[in-house]
Amino acid sequence: MVLTADFSQRPLISLQHVWKRYANGTEALRDVELTVPEGDFLFLVGASGAGKSTLIRLLVREEKPTKGKIFVDGQELGRMKRRHLPSYRRKVGLVFQDFKLLPRLTAFENVAFALRVLGEAGRVVQARSKDALEVVGLSNKHDTYPREMSGGEQQRVAIARALVHSPRLIVADEPTGNLDPATGWEIMQLFLQINQRGSTVLMATHNRDIVDVLRRRVVAIDGGQVVRDDRAGGYHEALAASALRA
Ligand SMILES: Nc1ncnc2c1ncn2[C@@H]1O[C@H](COP(=O)(O)OP(=O)(O)O)[C@@H](O)[C@H]1O
Ligand SMILES: [Mg+2]
Repeated sequence: MVLTADFSQRPLISLQHVWKRYANGTEALRDVELTVPEGDFLFLVGASGAGKSTLIRLLVREEKPTKGKIFVDGQELGRMKRRHLPSYRRKVGLVFQDFKLLPRLTAFENVAFALRVLGEAGRVVQARSKDALEVVGLSNKHDTYPREMSGGEQQRVAIARALVHSPRLIVADEPTGNLDPATGWEIMQLFLQINQRGSTVLMATHNRDIVDVLRRRVVAIDGGQVVRDDRAGGYHEALAASALRA
């Protein structure tokens, strides 16, 4: 089933004929078209090297498209001034496979740091960081350092750090990739809760079980092209689609 966009409201994300060629000539994305309404929960699936992380780097404006346009919340990223980048990145919460916590800071300090660098008042930093750690179930780990935490706990801290700006959009690149299956499921439950509270979630993943069980929107990319966009899909149809094309 091909998803038809809901034009009754402005989409949160819109990619229009997006191409990305890296300096070494690699064509990582080819004519990608994608519309994501506010509130969506979307899995981006595809083999290693398919272009998932490239799409995410374009969305957070770490890279620019070679051709095409990307709109997020009505703003065209290619036209955004450098000085508007910090406020843009605050709208987007980013979560990585390898957590990317600062090792010399405690859980609380890792979350608070994300606000402090923006010059927020101490009171606001304290209150919001505390709330974010509560949402991820780590109220009892404020003073714990990353090396003293399990992988799942570290990923929760990273999610709290992403949530601390109350972002409209959460983008996660293989967030369960370094976790055992049970812990991966706990982290997924957290993303589902965050989505239910109103944030749009876009997640690149290799985790077939999770994609198959949750039956959310699945966008499959292969060789830099969108080859499937299912409203309630599974992981394996992605492989079937690319096998058929081969
Ligand atoms: N910075 C880069 N410079 C050159 N090629 C890159 C760069 N990053 C990724 N690529 C290439 O672009 C393609 C897509 O990579 P990527 O977006 O990381 O895929 P995925 O996340 O699906 O594994 C791959 O062929 C990869 O080798
Ligand atoms: Mg990747």
